Amino acid sequence: MKTCIVLSVLLFSRLCNGKFPSWFKFGAATSSYQIEGAWNISDKTPSIWDTFCHIKDDVKCSNANGDVAANSYYQWKEDLDAAAELGLDYYRFSISWTRILPTGYPNKISKDGVRYYNELINGLLARGIEPMVTMYHWELPQNLQDLGGWTNALISTWFADYAKVLFTLFGDRVKTWLTINEPLIMCAAAYSENTGFAPGISDPNYGAFLCAKNTLLAHAHAWRIYDVIYRPKYGGKVSIANQIFWMEGQSEEERKLGELTYSLNVLYTYPVFSKNGGWPAEIEEIIATNSKNQGFSFSRLPAFTTEEINFVKGTYDFFGLNYYTSRLVRKATKEDKLNWPFTGSHELESFLTVDASWRNENTVPWLHEYPIGLRRILEWVKKEFGDIEIIVTEIGYGDGGEDGNDYNKIRYHKEHLEQVELAINAGINVTGYTVWSLIDTFEWDSGNTVKFGLYKVDYDDPKRARIPRPSAKFYAAVIQARSFDVLHKYIYDEL
Ligand code: NOJ
Repeated sequence: MKTCIVLSVLLFSRLCNGKFPSWFKFGAATSSYQIEGAWNISDKTPSIWDTFCHIKDDVKCSNANGDVAANSYYQWKEDLDAAAELGLDYYRFSISWTRILPTGYPNKISKDGVRYYNELINGLLARGIEPMVTMYHWELPQNLQDLGGWTNALISTWFADYAKVLFTLFGDRVKTWLTINEPLIMCAAAYSENTGFAPGISDPNYGAFLCAKNTLLAHAHAWRIYDVIYRPKYGGKVSIANQIFWMEGQSEEERKLGELTYSLNVLYTYPVFSKNGGWPAEIEEIIATNSKNQGFSFSRLPAFTTEEINFVKGTYDFFGLNYYTSRLVRKATKEDKLNWPFTGSHELESFLTVDASWRNENTVPWLHEYPIGLRRILEWVKKEFGDIEIIVTEIGYGDGGEDGNDYNKIRYHKEHLEQVELAINAGINVTGYTVWSLIDTFEWDSGNTVKFGLYKVDYDDPKRARIPRPSAKFYAAVIQARSFDVLHKYIYDEL
């Protein structure tokens, strides 16, 4: 591969035929609430998503819930068989906090919960697949939400206790951990806009920012606990999974606005990954000024103390990136409805839009395809934070799954894998690609209407068989050839 990269650079052309280096790993992902079901089995207590989707108002969770979902609590072996059939190097799944700690605190550890995740982890290892575990994929214990959830500063210590339990129970076999999945969505969507994400709090001025600070402190606690107590024994790695939309100004005049809006979008990365730590200075200043002008006696973006800055800074072993889509940024007009982060930002008066050429042929309105956006983020990580290892911890394409043909999903992954390969050829240290999702999952506010799975799960079939879609065959071929250039063999020519 090295020779291939050198020749590519010398000849200004790509000679590698879509080949990935031997150290590059291919994975797929799911999360606990989205697949497990068994929401009230044994001593498991409700999480905020159980509560939220049980509210009967014809809107929440698109009239569905994760009570049964793909039934993976009982059918996990079928998931692992699918993972093995694909030839995955690793499988990313998450642990449900209340399945392990029914009180939310470590005073009671569920035997059934521990048994379930031990079987899953051991089952993976027996099939030669590495586990990559997310500790928190949005299912806060309901009783902790009742105490303020991610807006209560104590949550960083509650999370630290939970993390310690997980490292103790599973750290001997799990070597790659993600503390928290997508702070952007769990804070901005769930605490500021009531957009359909549990706990559905609408505090557009303050909620998301309070959540942001506490989330980063919680992450830092977990990383530091691992670093001191567990790394010497187990030698694994810990990071956080940030969802990032690539953003740029729609025109040259809007370049600066594009950069600022992007900084707000990646707010959650600077405190952990930047050399100085803390919030991006320009954003901190803007929000402090906005807060003052609005009559607040404090900045709505809570400051970190110097001690906190140093505590959070550097708490990573790699950069976890969830990427799906990109946006163009322009100055908002009076008519634009701003709704950070999905349509624009009140703080900057910026409005998010897309280029007409970016495909959106699916039932996911926000998923406009811009594969180059992925490479732009990979380049940005290196430029901004240095030559750190990057793992694409999620990337995926969803559709309605009506006709069983998911060729668009195949095209999406082929084009995004190509961008990863270009980034590797340009010397960026990206080491893994994780397809969202292994099997169909319950899609939060969209309920069961959107299918991201490489494997279909028929929710009307009581057996809930896992059935490979064409995309599963494509991904298996990619993994086998360790190249994205496999489509012509059987599918892509037909597109
Ligand atoms: C990212 C989230 O982590 C995952 O839970 C969700 O299903 C996908 N995005 C698709 O929306």
